[in-house]
Amino acid sequence: MSNRRNFLKISMVAAAAMAGNRVFASPGKGDKLPDNIIYTENNSGRFAKKVGSHLPVVTVDGNKVTVKTEHGMSEAHYIVRHTLVSENGEVLGERTFHFSDPEAVSVFEITGDHSKLYATSFCNKHDMWINEVVL
Ligand SMILES: [Fe+2]
Repeated sequence: MSNRRNFLKISMVAAAAMAGNRVFASPGKGDKLPDNIIYTENNSGRFAKKVGSHLPVVTVDGNKVTVKTEHGMSEAHYIVRHTLVSENGEVLGERTFHFSDPEAVSVFEITGDHSKLYATSFCNKHDMWINEVVL
């Protein structure tokens, strides 16, 4: 199966190259992404006025981690998802919301020792936001 996937991937790249199309590579691990892809408190880009309503707020109480985005929830505009990721990139928790949920709050019970946690919050209109918590 992997060989078939690789064959298809290589074939698509070769076909694009032969057609004169530009071929884009995915960013590699550790590559810095350009602005306006992922937003943080200090890099809010085109959504500078949206920090307070989109940056996920993280509180830690023992092994209980709460992620909250102070954002309204309506069918047209709502928080779609939270994830909690460790300093090593391990996904410790994730929650997908429905616009009818009353608020964008996730509670995760985590295990193990961690030095940092990263919370993500994705708005259907204002993209991906990340906050870091040093433990
Ligand atoms: Fe939003």
